[in-house]
Amino acid sequence: MEHKYKVISLFTGIGGFDFGFCNRPVVVHKDSILDSSWVQSSHPVFESFVELNQLPFEIVFQNDVIPNCKSVCELNGIESNYVVDDIERLIENEYRFPKADVVIGGFPCQDFSNCGKRTGLKSKRGQLYKSFVSVVKQVKPLIFVCENVQGLLTVPLAIQTIVNDFESIGYRVNYELIDCSNHGIPQKRKRVILMGWKSNSIEFEKTGWNSIKSNNRIQCAIEKYFAHLQSPKQTNDKSQKQYSNAKRLTKGQGQSVIDVSRFAPTIRSEHHGNIEFRNEDRRLTVRECALCQTFPPDFKFGSMTASYKQIGNALPPLLSYIIARKVYELLKRRCVYLWVSLLFAMHSRIGSSEPHTMTANQLGGQVVLLGLPSRSLRLGVCIQCNRSVCECTSNGTGHAE
Ligand SMILES: C[S@@+](CC[C@H](N)C(=O)[O-])C[C@H]1O[C@@H](n2cnc3c(N)ncnc32)[C@H](O)[C@@H]1O
Repeated sequence: MEHKYKVISLFTGIGGFDFGFCNRPVVVHKDSILDSSWVQSSHPVFESFVELNQLPFEIVFQNDVIPNCKSVCELNGIESNYVVDDIERLIENEYRFPKADVVIGGFPCQDFSNCGKRTGLKSKRGQLYKSFVSVVKQVKPLIFVCENVQGLLTVPLAIQTIVNDFESIGYRVNYELIDCSNHGIPQKRKRVILMGWKSNSIEFEKTGWNSIKSNNRIQCAIEKYFAHLQSPKQTNDKSQKQYSNAKRLTKGQGQSVIDVSRFAPTIRSEHHGNIEFRNEDRRLTVRECALCQTFPPDFKFGSMTASYKQIGNALPPLLSYIIARKVYELLKRRCVYLWVSLLFAMHSRIGSSEPHTMTANQLGGQVVLLGLPSRSLRLGVCIQCNRSVCECTSNGTGHAE
């Protein structure tokens, strides 16, 4: 059976960020995908849509404080050990989080958003990133990934404080601003992706998210995502019937009609019903907003107001998939690195002193067995120094002194 990397999801909401890592495929318009090797198959119902290959991840824990978010995940078969509680309370009560290779999550962004009061780290909500740090400190994943709004980069000291906090618990951190519309997502949405890796365990160079912009940019207009939709009056799709009747104002956000030949504006959570117009007569439906975010065309939602908010809060599932591919690539590279280190270490020892005694252990999720003529050695933990064999022998000499 294929090994799966274990993932903890924090601030899960309705699971937008979980999509690339969970057991349900990401479904997007075929013109959102540049590399055909990402595609598993055409969608059986929605002709222009494709299902993407699933990656070897398994979500072992989800958390949000809002019970309805869990219900939506259940409704769509993406719920996985979803604990509804305040994350700060869990940490205060010394909750034991399951073991995981990866931790993902988008801590609340309202206090960093350019649309809000920009209280930043001074507010209680702005401090919630600390819970993410605490979980990483306890679980010690190989990699973590956080997501937040562009404003995180301009609130004084915010990003530097967050980076310092992760570095102080032994992680190296890299962050970049991503424009979703350059990645096949039919929406102008800019998000900061912050990735950290255990500084003593993986050799990473800069993660290189921005290289996608120059070399592999793919843009997909919103009309492609809307082509199959019926009007709210004709459809049987509950989410396509639901739209806000908020009166049209003369100014302010959400008063314009979207240009379907281009991208949707950012789908926000704090719109208070002022979601943009599909045409002169009505605002965007819940389904239309979800498609702008690349949720599958048959994803099920609850009430209109909660759904608008949950969709606006979400990380687009296609962006989650792109992140998941990057994380998988880095984890695979780590396995190769471990192999090379081990072979190097073995080579330097054979014929000289005996290797230290090893206990079998899972490293990078893989138990590696090396067959040698007279013995076999499992890649594992040295019982003398309690470090992984690759770490304790990374200079090729080990500590055989
Ligand atoms: C930006 S949204 C995350 C959306 C999610 N990443 C997605 O893709 O669907 C932040 C989430 O944090 C949750 N949240 C806020 N305060 C929380 C707390 N104290 N404990 C747990 N979750 C909290 C909110 O309910 C919200 O769903």
